[in-house]
Amino acid sequence: MSNIMEIFNILKKLDFSYCTRHGLAICDNSLTVLSKFPSNSINLVITSPPFALQRQKEYGNKDQDQYITWLLSFAKIVYEKLRVDGSFVIDLGGAYKKGVPVRSLYNYRLLIQLCDEIGFHLAEEFFWYNPSKLPSPIEWVNKRKIRVKDSVNTIWWLSKTENPKSDIKNVLVPYSERMKKLIEDPAKFYTPKERPSGHNIGASFGNDNGGAIPSNLLQISNSESNSLYLRRCKEFGVKGHPARFPEKLPSFFIKLLTEPEDLVVDIFAGSNTTGLVAEKLSRRWISIEERIEYIQASSFRFIDSNINKTKLDEIYNSINSESKINLKDYQEPKKLFNGDALNF
Ligand SMILES: C[S@@+](CC[C@H](N)C(=O)[O-])C[C@H]1O[C@@H](n2cnc3c(N)ncnc32)[C@H](O)[C@@H]1O
Repeated sequence: MSNIMEIFNILKKLDFSYCTRHGLAICDNSLTVLSKFPSNSINLVITSPPFALQRQKEYGNKDQDQYITWLLSFAKIVYEKLRVDGSFVIDLGGAYKKGVPVRSLYNYRLLIQLCDEIGFHLAEEFFWYNPSKLPSPIEWVNKRKIRVKDSVNTIWWLSKTENPKSDIKNVLVPYSERMKKLIEDPAKFYTPKERPSGHNIGASFGNDNGGAIPSNLLQISNSESNSLYLRRCKEFGVKGHPARFPEKLPSFFIKLLTEPEDLVVDIFAGSNTTGLVAEKLSRRWISIEERIEYIQASSFRFIDSNINKTKLDEIYNSINSESKINLKDYQEPKKLFNGDALNF
């Protein structure tokens, strides 16, 4: 199955909460929804599952084993629904074992099982460094001062085959000042030569490629405080989703691993950051979240800032798991979107 519109034609027959120009938000258990997808239909699943920390109050080995088994049941079906050149990107926060200042290995155990049992390849591991993360756990870091603050999440980029679609030209980062000078006047800075390490520097080192190659350490602050989403949550007296990831995170992987019109899916969508980013980048998206209050508030992300409170109220209150609200009429086309709208 390759045609994206064919896939959407199958999926739009399902109940959904709202649709936009490029995507669908579905309120249900993602295991149920994923089972309805055609095989080999998704280009990228990117998600941040409820962490072991948030899902359970106990962190003994047994519970972590249960957590891994739970997550593997989703991964198994993701594998089946991904296209051959598709990718599965999973963001996992670390955790301590209960009552001791020793880290759990659950995220590493999960990685090994994803590869050994399900058949994923580890295309590359990433580390998301969030400088604005607060120190925790309080007992080991703030009170006893025996552990430093944990500000890195592991992100596993998994693929169905050894050669998933990817293009780093889409995620180049700005050159350093030194590199800019080198590009301006290469002869002044270096002469092509062989190095003892074998990393030979040739004349092409000074070429301007439009930006530098990014590393697998992603430094992204998670400190959103004044977005349309948060302002509207405040206006409606609802709490913003407590575990949102920053837009730059899905943006990096969506640009790296997909092209416009490709299908991006988030199976633990929360406030639907992934859907918003996919929409901005003209990718088709489907976001699945089991709690309706998160889906309702996530609609704020897609409704133009000119829409008045009465209308917003009406939309917000009419969203339920089968409301099929069409938000296209409240989206400002040129601001967010380039591609053709979906036809619902
Ligand atoms: C860590 S949050 C995701 C936050 C999201 N990345 C964002 O930026 O808002 C995980 C979400 O998964 C949802 N969830 C947990 N189990 C689920 C399931 N079986 N199906 C669908 N959603 C689920 C939770 O309700 C929670 O909102």
